[in-house]
Amino acid sequence: MSRRLEPFRYVLSCALFLAALAPAAGLVWLATTGGLGAEPIKATIHYTGNWTLRFLMIVLAITPLYRMTEVDWIMRQRRMMGLFAYFYAVLHMLSYLGLDQFFDWPLVGEDVVKRPFITIGMVAFFILTLLALTSSRSAVRRIGARRWQALHRLVYGAALLGGLHFLIGVKADVTEPVTYLALIAALLALRLVPAHRFRALRRRLAA
Ligand code: HEM
Repeated sequence: MSRRLEPFRYVLSCALFLAALAPAAGLVWLATTGGLGAEPIKATIHYTGNWTLRFLMIVLAITPLYRMTEVDWIMRQRRMMGLFAYFYAVLHMLSYLGLDQFFDWPLVGEDVVKRPFITIGMVAFFILTLLALTSSRSAVRRIGARRWQALHRLVYGAALLGGLHFLIGVKADVTEPVTYLALIAALLALRLVPAHRFRALRRRLAA
């Protein structure tokens, strides 16, 4: 993008930042207006879990979207979107630890060992923590670009584990987690499409 478009790009990034905060604001609104229903703790865990997964999917969509459009601004939003996925994962985890388990660590430990869906969630959370801690430019320099890229491919695993965690956790209707998992699989499959095919598609759409 040219220098003349720099202010426009900045405004767009700010708008995206505010949009990404909207689900958190929505949660505060629901919590303070009684909008979380008869089981507010459960509703909070579900709300934050869903948004974690949605942000992980947004992260996975960025590279294919960039390949389709070649707008480099899109690629530069990847870090912010990844950190937002982590932000919602932390809220999700804190809702479970604080509101559901009252920070009763032996009980949490038992849950992690005995309930596979919690174990899987924990592994996904551990991966996201690792990625958030190494998301800075200085981390790229320290680790080296190649190794950093390999490490950050773990986000694919985190998204799949998040979907699996949802699937195993639901008690009845699996439509929603299966839909999430199918979308995640589709987004991962898009990465296998060679760049020249995206270029050809763009040319065809522009014609
Ligand atoms: C990347 C990490 C994670 C993702 C993407 C994720 C996502 C989700 C999703 C989508 C749901 C279902 C929401 C719904 O039913 O509408 C959920 C439920 C839940 N998650 Fe997670 N989760 C993650 C990590 C964790 C961790 C680390 C814990 C706790 C240690 C946890 C505990 C729970 C609990 C207790 C539920 C509610 C299950 C129920 O009673 O219905 N999650 N999560």
